[in-house]
Amino acid sequence: MPRPAPVTAAVPAPLVVSVLAALLVIALAMLALVAAPFAGPARAASPAVVVQADFEDGPDGWVARGPAPTVALSTEAPRGTQSLLVTGRTSTWHGAGIDVTDAFEPGVTHTIGLWLRLPSTGTGYADLRVSVQRDVGGASSYDTVATATGVTNGAWKQVVASYTPGPFDTALLYVESTSSLTDILVDDVVVSATRATPDLALPQLDQTLAPWFPFGLAVEPADVLAGRGDLVAHHAAQITPGNQMKPDAIQPTEGTFRFDDADLLVDFALAHDQRVYGHTLLWHQQTPAWFFQRDGAALTTSSADQALLRSRLQTHIEAIAEHYRTAYGEFGTPGNPIFAFDVVNEVIDESQSDGLRRSEWYRILGPSYIADAFRYARAAFGPEVELFINDYNSEYPNKRTPYVALVRSLLADGVPVDGVGHQLHVEVGRSLSYVEATITAFEALGVRQAVTELDVSTYLHGGESWTTPPADRLLQQALYYRDLVTVLKRHAASFESVTIWGVDDSRTWLRAGAAPLLFDGALQAKPAFWGIVDPSRIGVTPTPTPTPTPTPTPTPTPTPTPTPTPTPTSGPAACTVRWSSNAWNTGLTANVRVTNTGTTTVDGWTLTFTFSGGQQVTQGWSAQWSQAGTVVTASNASWNGRLAPGASTEIGFNASHPGAPTAPSDFRLNGAACASS
Ligand code: XIL
Repeated sequence: MPRPAPVTAAVPAPLVVSVLAALLVIALAMLALVAAPFAGPARAASPAVVVQADFEDGPDGWVARGPAPTVALSTEAPRGTQSLLVTGRTSTWHGAGIDVTDAFEPGVTHTIGLWLRLPSTGTGYADLRVSVQRDVGGASSYDTVATATGVTNGAWKQVVASYTPGPFDTALLYVESTSSLTDILVDDVVVSATRATPDLALPQLDQTLAPWFPFGLAVEPADVLAGRGDLVAHHAAQITPGNQMKPDAIQPTEGTFRFDDADLLVDFALAHDQRVYGHTLLWHQQTPAWFFQRDGAALTTSSADQALLRSRLQTHIEAIAEHYRTAYGEFGTPGNPIFAFDVVNEVIDESQSDGLRRSEWYRILGPSYIADAFRYARAAFGPEVELFINDYNSEYPNKRTPYVALVRSLLADGVPVDGVGHQLHVEVGRSLSYVEATITAFEALGVRQAVTELDVSTYLHGGESWTTPPADRLLQQALYYRDLVTVLKRHAASFESVTIWGVDDSRTWLRAGAAPLLFDGALQAKPAFWGIVDPSRIGVTPTPTPTPTPTPTPTPTPTPTPTPTPTPTSGPAACTVRWSSNAWNTGLTANVRVTNTGTTTVDGWTLTFTFSGGQQVTQGWSAQWSQAGTVVTASNASWNGRLAPGASTEIGFNASHPGAPTAPSDFRLNGAACASS
């Protein structure tokens, strides 16, 4: 499955919204100053601003990163009069940074906001990266917080991203580039941290599901610290390392094995009486290039090169088994919690005539590498570790067919495949009858099965985008989890375990807003949790009112954008409309704030207006949008149909236009003309 693009939080937000968001960041910072006077980095209270720099009085603790660059103050600034200027970079990792060892807290979710631009003397585009370097026991790791693509010397770009550090002895927040050596401007850095506390009085998911199958969560080191760690200990009977046992993590260069991060998770599991499902011995992704090279050149299909790759695979598998046997005792004994491993991951490609993915493994070795991997794994791990094949979209019939065929033929050849994994990265509405048909098909082969990476995105397709899903989508998600678990319970005898891919929505691997998990970013149970635990409580649980937002830039705090009081209307109109838009040469993004200025509640509404300049709505949100000729129609979404007297709702859309956009006219709410506000 293609890796998701790294979080790119810097997007061309409408100017108006960006400025509001910036003011909000500053307002939040000032509020925090009042609440707790800020004097340099401080330990996170809940919530608190832990790093702040506007460079108005100096570099605010920011220093050059790398031997070459220099930092100075510039008079080019998005607000105020100064920003930080980095010059003289001779490597991409050169930049500017601040020591956040005392400011950041491992396992706590931080919202990092800052503004980036190239100085007016700079030319071209640069992709600038905001990262954190963590040092643990002398070893450094580098976490990408966000990448701001296409930064120029034109508009300032805002980056807002959420980041949860893993463990560190020291930590540095810094800005660098991906390839350009341009000078860089940085301004208005605000980092806030919220120490979330889970409700440990909730029914435990593992206890609830124990009559049917063990319940697991995929975790990374940052997930087993602070409140999130308490949550994982409370609910999970087993864990799967999300990235820490993949080839790139375990053997980044040939013969150099790193187990620290993986072992941190195994130790956590041991301390909390949990099992560990290993993931993954072989994959086409997150596998270092050296596996497939000899002296820097691509391996060929010569028998010498094939033998080299096979021996590398065997060595890799043996080293992992050996490490865990040595460090934790023989597999299957109480000190060693590893009970299963994904041996090969995502080897199916339904578009190929033989149903097998054309990876480097396949190119060099042909289909035989799959059976070899299982044989090496059985020899290395012994009979106590269950060996799984794992894949995504296994519920779709066109994927199911080659998946079943491969497993059947491996079993017929005596290959030691114990189990079949269904990743189940789905979205609300993915066919459950497909899911059940796939389970039934594998039951006929007599193998164990596992749900290995379940998450249920609230997005139905790529065109949807929001910061928080609408309430009806969260309810739909809860029903989906309920119904899926009902299907799985029917087949409980076949299932070794059911694992959800992540703990809370703030740390999903899916794009922002997908909100596919059981807990929200504040670690509180979502309706989806009750869908599994007690469906009668789905609608009962108070759910935070979602704030649908028309801007693709997440705001840095959950505080709703302050809304100006609508100007009173002079005429009889029962509504006012406040229009704001940001246009570029071929398109525009518009926000429309509709206020019911009448004396009765509007229950269900349709807003119309005229676009006479050739504009065409291409995508809208927070309403059902359509256009017929010059008339644009927006009908309420399920969650904003009711407008009490004085109440407002904000909706928005993108449109194309042929030239200078002309203003919309003739706004009507349920037929009544609206005044502008
Ligand atoms: C994902 C991780 O969750 C991300 O952090 C990483 O950037 C990419 O990989 N199928 C798999 C998992 O088998 O290993 C993937 O995990 C998600 C898709």
